[in-house]
Amino acid sequence: MIVGIVAIAKNLAIGKDGKLPWHYSADLKHFKGTTMGQALVVGSNTYRSIGKPLPGRLNIVLSRSAQIDTADNLIFLRSEKEALDVAKYLSCDLFVIGGAKTYAEFAKHIDAWIVSRVPVEVDDADVFMPSAFLDGFDSVEKREIGEGLVVETFRR
Ligand SMILES: NC(=O)c1ccc[n+]([C@@H]2O[C@H](COP(=O)([O-])OP(=O)(O)OC[C@H]3O[C@@H](n4cnc5c(N)ncnc54)[C@H](OP(=O)(O)O)[C@@H]3O)[C@@H](O)[C@H]2O)c1
Repeated sequence: MIVGIVAIAKNLAIGKDGKLPWHYSADLKHFKGTTMGQALVVGSNTYRSIGKPLPGRLNIVLSRSAQIDTADNLIFLRSEKEALDVAKYLSCDLFVIGGAKTYAEFAKHIDAWIVSRVPVEVDDADVFMPSAFLDGFDSVEKREIGEGLVVETFRR
């Protein structure tokens, strides 16, 4: 299954100055617990902001132009098609972890979204989710994870 995982503010903001515009340990714990042992696909901007492959997961980094140093748990690909081809051979889920450009490239392939609703508005954010990104999806689960965050799961 291809799963989008994102944390969004009330005004759909997801990023600012190349980083997350907030720090919620509850969300980091949720992200780690959900993705551990799985495969991730990440855009080069978000990968640069994280700065290293996330341990315990296969990291697929996408870029059309950048050179990325490889590592044991990192593969570096040039297109979403290459990532989707690799995903066919995985016995785990592929989590699309962003950012916005990468979510947009995978949007039509995503089977489920896991959305952390962050209880703030970020007026000076510079990266947002499109308002229609959950069109065609149904909410199947909603739970509070602390610090005022709610995680909602959607299936196509
Ligand atoms: N709130 C959240 O849950 C969340 C999650 C992730 C990221 N973010 C935030 O989002 C922001 C970054 O988002 P962004 O949209 O600027 O960048 P991004 O999606 O992280 O990276 C975009 C880059 O990835 C590469 N890429 C994307 N799709 C590709 C494809 N189909 N084929 C080949 N390469 C592809 C390209 O790299 P090249 O230009 O190198 O070719 C593209 O310029 C940051 O602020 C980050 O903190 C937030």
